[in-house]
Amino acid sequence: MIGVFDSGFGGLSVFKKVSEQLPEYNFVYLGDSERNPYGSRSKETIYQWSKQAVEFLFERGCQLVIIACHSASNSALRQLQQEYLPSSPYKNRNILGVTIPIVEDVVRLANKRVGVLATRASVKSNRFVEEIYDRAPHLEVFQVASPMLVSLIEEGYAKSATCNLFIKKYLRPLKDKQIDLLVPGCTHFPLILEQLRQKSGQSIKVLDASQIVCDKLKIYLDKHKELEFSQDQSGFREVLTTGEVGLFEEVGQRFLKTSFRAKQVKLY
Ligand code: DGL
Repeated sequence: MIGVFDSGFGGLSVFKKVSEQLPEYNFVYLGDSERNPYGSRSKETIYQWSKQAVEFLFERGCQLVIIACHSASNSALRQLQQEYLPSSPYKNRNILGVTIPIVEDVVRLANKRVGVLATRASVKSNRFVEEIYDRAPHLEVFQVASPMLVSLIEEGYAKSATCNLFIKKYLRPLKDKQIDLLVPGCTHFPLILEQLRQKSGQSIKVLDASQIVCDKLKIYLDKHKELEFSQDQSGFREVLTTGEVGLFEEVGQRFLKTSFRAKQVKLY
């Protein structure tokens, strides 16, 4: 079984893609909605909470966990991957994030200047900047923290005039730097992808982060046939939340684009 972990709701946009495009695999989603948002937390807190979530998913039978939350992927993934090295006692416990799949596409597609829109925690981690620079030192990277967008999208205002106003405000400094590629570096941004594309204009490529993550997962699964995703049924789906189920189902629909049933679990 494959686990998809996010701080709350936004990772459902990745869960939707992988569930639809990899129907033969079993997926469980875990959203830590009781404690979200992660994007305004410290690196240490994000690491501790992500560790609890990843551990929970392994205990539930996952052989692979995807950290779909950009804030957690940027702030905690490296340390977690080191702790669960395949050579360690945890042989069948693999963790992937969203940062590197996106960075690989940035390096392939950007010309000179890259803009990143993300949470405060992601910006502070500097992961996008470092990983891009490591692979392509000729690229310049500019980051803007865009905290207002997460709340507006969660509350159902993704298409509102207010949301468009904030998109414009956050894009302004990046457009002033004449970026040629934009990374929507947050789980919530697939819901405003068209607006980001429209407001960026034709000279800026805007990545589809959740599709990139899904495509890279397909490649990973093809390469790692030795991983055994054993389960009686295939196509099994389960959605878990640490928060209040009714609220999770209501807000989660915006990301999953359909109604669904969730179960509440405790991580700590
Ligand atoms: N999932 C977070 C991310 O992608 C956004 C929401 C939060 O701050 O928890 O960075």
